[in-house]
Amino acid sequence: MARNAAQAICDNSFEAAARAAVYRAIFTRRDVRSHFVPEPLNDSVLARLLLAAHHAPSVGYMQPWKFIIIRDEERRRAVCEIFVKARQQELPQMSEDRQALYRSLKLQGICESALNICITCDRRRAEGSPLGRWHNPEMDLYSTVCAVQNFWLAARAEGIGVGWVSIIDSRALKQLLDIPDQAVPVAYLCVGRVSGFQDRPDLESKGWASRLPLSELIMSESFGGAGEGELKSAVDGLTPPGLQTP
Ligand SMILES: Cc1cc2nc3c(=O)[nH]c(=O)nc-3n(C[C@H](O)[C@H](O)[C@H](O)COP(=O)(O)O)c2cc1C
Repeated sequence: MARNAAQAICDNSFEAAARAAVYRAIFTRRDVRSHFVPEPLNDSVLARLLLAAHHAPSVGYMQPWKFIIIRDEERRRAVCEIFVKARQQELPQMSEDRQALYRSLKLQGICESALNICITCDRRRAEGSPLGRWHNPEMDLYSTVCAVQNFWLAARAEGIGVGWVSIIDSRALKQLLDIPDQAVPVAYLCVGRVSGFQDRPDLESKGWASRLPLSELIMSESFGGAGEGELKSAVDGLTPPGLQTP
């Protein structure tokens, strides 16, 4: 009885339905490039997504992010040109047997999505108080990525697709968007309503890559350390709920 009471006091978990909803957002989130529909995105929804992003963890509570909302079609076409050029430059870096597949992949939805958002990291925002960044100055960039992930998961819960475009020359992007020297464009996102979310990552269904076995990525005590057999068996026995195995 006493033990049950102690367990009850320490149980801060969500109720089952809420827990399932969190995992659902995680497991069914997709990078979307091909399934945007021509529907505007309501500002009240966008506001919720931005608020979710703004509640991400950040080093020293620095909140280094800013959000550039890009709606203008001409500007987006210019971003698309930067993408096309970057893609041409990336192509020869692929091994020859992968170039045809690379060419066939759709890797952005810049003009088809309702709007684009560039999430930047202001590297000087907490100058003079580098809590957590004295040894690891890059933590501000990692914090900004946390904001991107919050945005992405909240978007999935709202039924909104997000596609991250990184095949971009960031110097050209900075110039186009008037981003000052101290800010880094961490993520360029295509955002909008979609006809549906695929069960599997595009790059998986197109044969580019597949999900690595999680148990092979778990180590014990030090890098490469063997062990944790029980944990590895436990993860091998799991399937993301609600997803069909391919
Ligand atoms: C930092 C980052 C950059 C990415 N850049 C691109 C990109 O330029 N073009 C693209 O099509 N997908 C891009 N993606 C999406 C990945 O290809 C995608 O996340 C991965 O294939 C797994 O698919 P999923 O997100 O649907 O689970 C990027 C993702 C991340 C996290």
